[in-house]
Amino acid sequence: MSATMPAPVVAPVRTPSTRTVLMCRPDFFTVSYRINPWMHPEKPTDTSLAVIQWEALYRTYLDLGFDVKLVDPIEGLPDMVYAANGGFVLDNIAYGASFTYEERQPEGPAYMDWFRANGYEVRVPENVNEGEGDFLLVGDAILAGTGFRSASNSHEELAAIYGREIVTLELVNPNFYHLDTAIAVLDPSPAPGQAANIAYLPSAFSDSSLRVLQQRFPDALLATEEDAAVLGLNSYSDGYNVVIASRAKDFERQLRERGYNPIGVDLSELLLGGGGVKCCTLELRR
Ligand code: ARG
Repeated sequence: MSATMPAPVVAPVRTPSTRTVLMCRPDFFTVSYRINPWMHPEKPTDTSLAVIQWEALYRTYLDLGFDVKLVDPIEGLPDMVYAANGGFVLDNIAYGASFTYEERQPEGPAYMDWFRANGYEVRVPENVNEGEGDFLLVGDAILAGTGFRSASNSHEELAAIYGREIVTLELVNPNFYHLDTAIAVLDPSPAPGQAANIAYLPSAFSDSSLRVLQQRFPDALLATEEDAAVLGLNSYSDGYNVVIASRAKDFERQLRERGYNPIGVDLSELLLGGGGVKCCTLELRR
């Protein structure tokens, strides 16, 4: 009889991949209306500080070797800095955004113009959706949020356009109103046969959606309420380097333990609008 030796515990080797992203300088950033609980129009904002903090994020991406494209900010659209909401881009097809609130609606066409001018095939949306704020590609599936912003019929549109599996997830806490405030994708380009992992905040989801997450991602990192409260999950990973809110200390520790390289940035000014690292970042996939 041969005894089977237990498999040795091997620290996972994380491989960074080059990303192409779209960003928008917060030249016109302010908080002049309230469409999420983070926003307090009566509280002053500092646009020049927002620009300085945003530039630190921009430089971090350049230092990581990312190809960073820029879309021109438009006066009167203070939330345009949250580029993740500008659409969802996969297979060279840009599914445009159709915003929930009137204040942001002009951003939809503005981003679609940029996609067209830069060689992406644009699909004009029929249903309300806020782009990559609610749609996250994980492996071959698209996790799709609903509950506060993107309407569930946009998930059907997404399925028809990309022919991928769509996993609908229902958000229940208004503080985590976009899927990218409650889930971080850690492995954007997993090697064939390798599972893509995520981090998430369990309490942000309905019971049935939480069960879906637990089943699909048994090895996921679970964020603390404290870290989620500084939008710590709103982060951006290249598979090794994970750019996160510098205040998300437990998330930072968990990432290190799992072999990732967390890089903290401070976007406190943009947090006043209810957004963080990932909100400022739209992934472009040819
Ligand atoms: N003020 C913006 C809004 O409420 C913030 C958007 C944050 N973006 C994101 N991808 N979570 O729409």
